[in-house]
Amino acid sequence: MLQVFHDIEKKIIASLKENPTQTPETLGASTKLSADQIRRGIEWLKLKDLAIVNESKTSVFSLGKNGIESFKKGLPERRLLDSLKNGPRKMSDLQQELGPVFGPAIGLSRKNNWVEASSDEISLKNPILELPGEKTLKQIAIDNVSEKHIDKNDLSVLLKRPNFIVEDVIKSKEISLTDSARLITISESSGAIDVEAKVPEIFVARTHPLKDTIDEIREIFVTLGFSEIIGNMTQSSFWNFDALFTPQDHPARELQDTFYLDGILTKKTGTAEQIRNVSESHKKNWRYHWDINEARKMVLRTHTTCVTIKHLAENKPDESRVFSLGRVFRNEKVSYKHLVEFNQIEGIVVGKDATLRNLMGIQREFYKRIGITKIKFWPTFFPYTEPSLQTMVYNERLGKWVELFGMGIFRPEVTKPLGITKPVLAWGGGIERIAMLKYGLDDVREFYSNNLNWLRSVTKCQ
Ligand code: PHE
Repeated sequence: MLQVFHDIEKKIIASLKENPTQTPETLGASTKLSADQIRRGIEWLKLKDLAIVNESKTSVFSLGKNGIESFKKGLPERRLLDSLKNGPRKMSDLQQELGPVFGPAIGLSRKNNWVEASSDEISLKNPILELPGEKTLKQIAIDNVSEKHIDKNDLSVLLKRPNFIVEDVIKSKEISLTDSARLITISESSGAIDVEAKVPEIFVARTHPLKDTIDEIREIFVTLGFSEIIGNMTQSSFWNFDALFTPQDHPARELQDTFYLDGILTKKTGTAEQIRNVSESHKKNWRYHWDINEARKMVLRTHTTCVTIKHLAENKPDESRVFSLGRVFRNEKVSYKHLVEFNQIEGIVVGKDATLRNLMGIQREFYKRIGITKIKFWPTFFPYTEPSLQTMVYNERLGKWVELFGMGIFRPEVTKPLGITKPVLAWGGGIERIAMLKYGLDDVREFYSNNLNWLRSVTKCQ
């Protein structure tokens, strides 16, 4: 895995590669980082097992009051021995000459056999070139010395004497790299962003996957040059069925297939001309007694094709590319593939280019944009189109063909009574079906079950 370093760490590693053992101070000087940054960087590297920190204490010595005096005048025993250079001296004279240091000087000199003393006279026994402590006293006097550079035995002589030596204990840190850290190569960009790093999961508000699919479909039709039209969810049977040449005894109009608004009949369902022409078309072609009261029954729209046909009847375009999209309702038993409410997308092309070949071309293009490529067209039946086709798409996961959009060219029995003179390509189908393919669902109810686990797991960018 990519290892990521903070800029501070990178600088410290680089400096330690050049100078393997350093103090925080030397690191600060070489990296130009502040003491605080160095301290933090060392901590981070230590936690990652990349740096070793050796903490040590060293004593630094300087001269105290008596040490300074001894350095200037000589150690008491040196002064005593010096005054015996030219022969024996009287004890009392020396006592006067040396003052308070006479006692320690004579004691030490006798103990070490440097002098010989009778009851009142004292004489040199062995000439001593360098007395214990003399070397170190000089050394410390010149500069404060750390214990590393000092003769410990020689020093111990001085340390025993009062106010000769001042000892300062200095704590220090030495930083070096571990073996693995020495192998690290730091590239300039490696420290930027670790895209594999674990981050806390945050469940933010997000749009529903079905809503995303609806938006995506809308977007596709808009980019294909279609404009959106909107219609009511409640419609008269006239627009939902009759205008679409669906006979009044058609099974789709039965109570078990369609939701009727209980006892509600609309007063005016279309213009007098529209009603007359539509009823004529039914009577002439289906040969039955067409009833205006059946057409006035209000329904929850069973498809969006009612929006399409109403738009065509009202606008009679010579050329048009429109789509509509929204909820439709069917009084069906809910199952893994059926809901009583679902969404449809519906589109039409009016104009001279309205050929079956174009219709299939538009479907292919739409499916391609939604990510579905394996499709075929199958003949089918709708009361309002001729020929009528159905798209079948291959579900790779289930290994079978599933039905998607229905389509066709509106029959003259539909268009003529409403004054539509140009050929109309029309298609429509369920959006949930597409979303199921997209999200790999086998049960359409999942879209409405509010299963947070699933909703959170759905990938947003595909
Ligand atoms: N209305 C049809 C359905 O609900 C789809 C369709 C629309 C078919 C337009 C042909 C033309 O399945």
